[in-house]
Amino acid sequence: MDELNQVKERINRLKEQINHHNYRYHVLDSPEISDTEYDQLVRELKQLEEKYPQFLTPDSPTQRVGAAPVEAFGVVEHPYPLLSLGNAFSGEELANWYTRTARMLGEEHFDLVGEHKIDGLAVALTYVDGRLVTGATRGDGFRGENITQNLRTIRSVPLSVSRDAPSRFEARGEVFLPVAGFQRLNQERAQEGQPTFANPRNAAAGSVRQLDPRITARRPLDIYIYMLGYAEGRAIPDTHWERLEYLKSLGFKVNPKNALLKSIEEVADYYQRWVNNRESLPYEADGIVVKVNSVSRQDVLGSVGHEPRWAIAYKFPAVEGTTQLKEIAISVGRTGTMNPYAILEPVRVGGVTLKQAALHNEDDIRRKDIREGDWVTVRRAGEVIPEVVGPIVSKRTGQEKVYSLVDKLPKNKEGHPACPVCGAEVVRPEGEAMYYCTSTACPAQVQHGIELFVSRGAMDIRGIGESLSATLLAGSLIHDAADLYSIKEKRDELLQLDKMGEKSVDNLLAAIETSKDRPLVRVILALGIRHVGGEMAQVLADEFTDLDDLKNASRERLMEVEGIGPKIADSIIKFFAQPENLKIIEKLRKAGVWPRRTPTEAAGLPLAGMEFVITGRLDSFSREVAQEQVKALGGTAKDNVTRNTSYLVVGEDPGGSKLNRARTLGTRQITEEEFLALLEEKRR
Ligand code: IVH
Repeated sequence: MDELNQVKERINRLKEQINHHNYRYHVLDSPEISDTEYDQLVRELKQLEEKYPQFLTPDSPTQRVGAAPVEAFGVVEHPYPLLSLGNAFSGEELANWYTRTARMLGEEHFDLVGEHKIDGLAVALTYVDGRLVTGATRGDGFRGENITQNLRTIRSVPLSVSRDAPSRFEARGEVFLPVAGFQRLNQERAQEGQPTFANPRNAAAGSVRQLDPRITARRPLDIYIYMLGYAEGRAIPDTHWERLEYLKSLGFKVNPKNALLKSIEEVADYYQRWVNNRESLPYEADGIVVKVNSVSRQDVLGSVGHEPRWAIAYKFPAVEGTTQLKEIAISVGRTGTMNPYAILEPVRVGGVTLKQAALHNEDDIRRKDIREGDWVTVRRAGEVIPEVVGPIVSKRTGQEKVYSLVDKLPKNKEGHPACPVCGAEVVRPEGEAMYYCTSTACPAQVQHGIELFVSRGAMDIRGIGESLSATLLAGSLIHDAADLYSIKEKRDELLQLDKMGEKSVDNLLAAIETSKDRPLVRVILALGIRHVGGEMAQVLADEFTDLDDLKNASRERLMEVEGIGPKIADSIIKFFAQPENLKIIEKLRKAGVWPRRTPTEAAGLPLAGMEFVITGRLDSFSREVAQEQVKALGGTAKDNVTRNTSYLVVGEDPGGSKLNRARTLGTRQITEEEFLALLEEKRR
């Protein structure tokens, strides 16, 4: 084959591969290769097409922005296409972009805006006469999917804005799943045997592109608006920075980490600052976006294909790497789960050496076909535990071993699989994806339970980490988390421990003492009831007056609470049926760790003690503003109707479940007019 033919073949092969991966990524939300590997394929294709323009065809994946919209949603035509961004992978590439831009503008200095490039899903929100009318995905840039109903469930998306806003305008931004929410979602999915999401972007896309908006509503999605698409009927500022400020004033969420930058040096500083602090971000960002601030200069620069010349993505170093998976080992989790994890040939990824990575459950390992001995892609991002994305099948030698969890477990006398920590029998309950240790006294579970109890979101007792809790347990200074409240009697023994001087013992005892005042929601979370995470703990703390009330609740009573289904109800019942757990509750009571449902601090204000839930659209203001007003008058605003709800405010297109619930509980319902009158009356 001559050289040209070879090039052509390679180009065709690349196109096929990229189209396949586009489909996996954008339509199925289930990529097979890492972003880095994907970028490499696209780069190679682009370079070849540049060098051999005779092979560039209009249907090449380099010529479009994303995948075609899924028909089921209904299609939205974008009045102005949603562009994509060119990339810079090094300081040099950024400098080249800047030089080119300066040359085209005929100016050496111009203002820029630096933003984080959040890894989520681009959306366009259209407002007409102050109301959100359409929310759409980017799709192929020209036509996107109509996902209005789903976007309406995101709390930070204003459903209406001030009437002074332009009569018709479009706000564009990125919908994303914060890292913590992503981790929780994947954990839940792993436990339920559902496929896990490869990264927060896929999880966000998968959540937003749900045909059932109720599923979207349950995911903790958020949005940052990053530009004004267009505006009609009102003059708008003519720099990007001021437009962001303007959008903020209309009630949109704009990233506070954006910065107005005066020179390319300031861009470099901004980039470096966030490369260094990337881990601290609550969301996953894969770089920064640099934009020319003046909109008239943006217009001068225009775009090539789908990429504006006035903006560029300056990517952070990769968070993915490849290495060999030596073995799949097992750790025992807090709820007794057998958690498989990968032992890796150490590899540097984003400045950190990885030796281990998470694998979720056996089904997930099978689904991804990860074998012991495989070369794998691993990724780490934010504070998420690094994970194995998938195998690199082309590197297989035939020596790899298919994984079976049961085969890896020790066997008890009867030949049944046993817990590697305590030796109790291990079972896989019907319909579940995980294997469980059947002992509740398993030291691994107790230890993880204590780690959860003292963790930041729970009792927040500083100074007890993994190793101290292990030491305390091993030395029998404590047997469960509640024993921490009587540990002051063992001061002398504490002082005997390694690294525990007078000062650290005093600090520890003080931290334990302070934690006695934590509110009910944290104590509920700290108990570590299966399926009760932060959000569910809040639901329970809103509904029940104290731990006794929760403990005594029947299955029926629990299921009456919105958001609690049979799975959670059963898990709560089971928790309070276990003698070890009842002992913990009694110890907490004795120690005075006995919070009651927080009465509103706003005593004295006119709406004190009153709880409002709003459903449907309000004419006079957005839901957020209405909630603010309730709070300003001392009331509380909640999302779910419970026994404690004083009023359900019913707007246009109200949600059926809230209405039903209010009917069942006999909650008082009022119209928007009545609500306004009530606010007015209380304000006087
Ligand atoms: S500006 C004309 N700003 O990156 C510029 N995009 O390839 C187009 N993204 O899917 C977008 N953060 O959703 C812009 N601060 C930011 C962004 C951002 C994330 C995404 C965007 C698009 C992709 C661009």
